[in-house]
Amino acid sequence: MADKNPFPGENNTGHIWDDNLRELSNPPPRWWTIALWASLIWVIVYGIIYPMWPAPPGSQGFTKGVTGWTQMNEYNTGVAEVEAVRAEFETKLAGMSAADILKDEGLSAYTVASAKVLFGDNCAACHGRSGQGGPGFPVLVDDDWLYGGTIETIEQTITGGRKGVMTAHGKILKPEEVDELANAIIEGKPESSPLFLQKGCIACHGMDGKGMAMLGSANLTDSIYRFVPQGDQSQLDSVKYTIMHGVNDVTDPMTREAVMPAFGERLSKGDIKKLAVYVYKFGGGQ
Ligand code: HEC
Ligand code: HEC
Repeated sequence: MADKNPFPGENNTGHIWDDNLRELSNPPPRWWTIALWASLIWVIVYGIIYPMWPAPPGSQGFTKGVTGWTQMNEYNTGVAEVEAVRAEFETKLAGMSAADILKDEGLSAYTVASAKVLFGDNCAACHGRSGQGGPGFPVLVDDDWLYGGTIETIEQTITGGRKGVMTAHGKILKPEEVDELANAIIEGKPESSPLFLQKGCIACHGMDGKGMAMLGSANLTDSIYRFVPQGDQSQLDSVKYTIMHGVNDVTDPMTREAVMPAFGERLSKGDIKKLAVYVYKFGGGQ
């Protein structure tokens, strides 16, 4: 066959079709060969350094590599680094009052960041993810407080819980008296109605109707409402409802329920301190 090769000296394999279509046996291009060997060497070196080759059972199923690197080790080192940074902050926080933490910008920032999850887990269901409140649950982001917005009061609120009590007045007041009081409150001037004094509202809401932090009695003059209307109720209807059925009054089955649970037993002092700073930093702290 070689004798009849019409294209001698060109490295063809002797397979020729259609008179001139030949299969050549040239070596592959140099770059290709280099790349092939380079990748082979890479795989071997990689296999020596990192865990890779399947190995018999008993050896945990794979070779360990000379460096002992594992994803798990890398993860654990990462976690340990974060923990070390945290531990530094946590040690500092442990010895400080919430008020002192607020004075330190770096520590406040750390506290806010680390309390976000605590708030989400323990508080958001009632007060909303960002403290915006909800029907029956007070807003925590404004500076209108039932019990006061100092860092100490907020800490007390979280530790001991709160339960404001207002007597139901549905059986004490005539409907037109409820109307008069409700309208005066909507106008922001509860004391303008003589009933406010005569019917004893001042005992809890104060002479000026601005509320008392000790009782958590709402400010009735600022047109900011603790209890917002439900459904197609107007704010006036909602105020009337509160006057008639009160808040947490066990003698009235239709009373408004408003209980802030105590977290003193459920959360550590440190976590409560963090949450107090977190709530304060919503912007309404005083
Ligand atoms: C089960 C619902 C519920 C949960 C959970 C809850 N709260 Fe409350 N919170 C309330 C209610 C209701 C009030 C109002 C109590 C009242 O009217 O007397 C309140 C009041 C407060 C107040 C006082 C607001 C003011 O105006 O003085 C603060 C501060 C507060 N909550 C923070 C928190 C924090 C922080 C958490 C999480 C650790 C939390 N709450 C979890 C229902 C809840
Ligand atoms: C025993 C104390 C007490 C008396 C008496 C009382 N209140 Fe209240 N009142 C409260 C408390 C406490 C709250 C807030 C409850 C809460 O948020 O948990 C409140 C809330 C209210 C609210 C709701 C405010 C809002 O922002 O939604 C209205 C309206 C109101 N009172 C009107 C009156 C009127 C009118 C009288 C007199 C007829 C009166 N209260 C008598 C304690 C009292």
